[in-house]
Amino acid sequence: MRSHDQTVHSQFDPQAEAYRHSAVHAAGPDLDYARTLVASTVARPERALDLGCGAGHLSFALAPYVGHLLALDPSPNMLAAVVRGAQERGLRGIDVQAGSAQSLPYRDGTFSLVCTRYSAHHWGRLEDALREAARVLRPGGHALIIDVIAPDSALADTHLQALELLRDVSHVRNRSVREWRELLGAAGLLEKCCRQWPLRIEFAPWIARMRTPATHVAAIRSLQAGAPREVREALAIETDGSFMLQTGLFWLTKPPHPASGLR
Ligand SMILES: C[S@@+](CC[C@H](N)C(=O)[O-])C[C@H]1O[C@@H](n2cnc3c(N)ncnc32)[C@H](O)[C@@H]1O
Repeated sequence: MRSHDQTVHSQFDPQAEAYRHSAVHAAGPDLDYARTLVASTVARPERALDLGCGAGHLSFALAPYVGHLLALDPSPNMLAAVVRGAQERGLRGIDVQAGSAQSLPYRDGTFSLVCTRYSAHHWGRLEDALREAARVLRPGGHALIIDVIAPDSALADTHLQALELLRDVSHVRNRSVREWRELLGAAGLLEKCCRQWPLRIEFAPWIARMRTPATHVAAIRSLQAGAPREVREALAIETDGSFMLQTGLFWLTKPPHPASGLR
């Protein structure tokens, strides 16, 4: 019986090329906004860490605005895609490391920026990963979290999570904004801003990217066809199965240590 980490590996490692060329991953208003935020920090982040870097689209967007960026992912093929992509773009200062967001081999306060995009909904232990992200962030440093946002409606949420799991068995959970705020607050990170954007998911490439088995595709189509009006409207399900997601960006800071002696 395989573990969740093994499922993640078998889902993503063979698909690095598909993620390298995926239109929804390679561009987006979230990437543009992330660039602006990082470029406008008062002190240029010297060391940045991208958790679940995949084929490297967030890393490539931010690398020009940081001193050095470490791109971390459990998939060797994704890391190889990052190395190739950095070379093609002439980007220096990007290194890769195999690993999991849930257990980071770095000392406390190593990074001035920790970021992640479209990866956290695959993490089996999100609370542990956020605690780790906050631990390796230096006081006063920034965290940038981008992910799919779950609908507030429980009805639409249940349908979306079911579609996502059928499409990709490494899916764990999309969180709502309220859930994210609780998790990020518990990790000791302070929100500075939050933005959301709609993202249209085109059915055919969505299924192809994860090599979804035909039985699961049939189940997705059946769920979509039988979905109640409220769900069809909330997810804007189209006749070919394409639909809309919400994505969200959180820009956070780790509060500086309380000044010693000021009690
Ligand atoms: C959709 S891709 C990431 C997209 C990428 N960040 C971008 O901006 O295009 C999701 C990635 O998360 C990685 N991942 C899954 N579980 C992880 C974990 N526990 N720690 C770190 N990365 C993980 C997968 O291997 C996969 O490469």
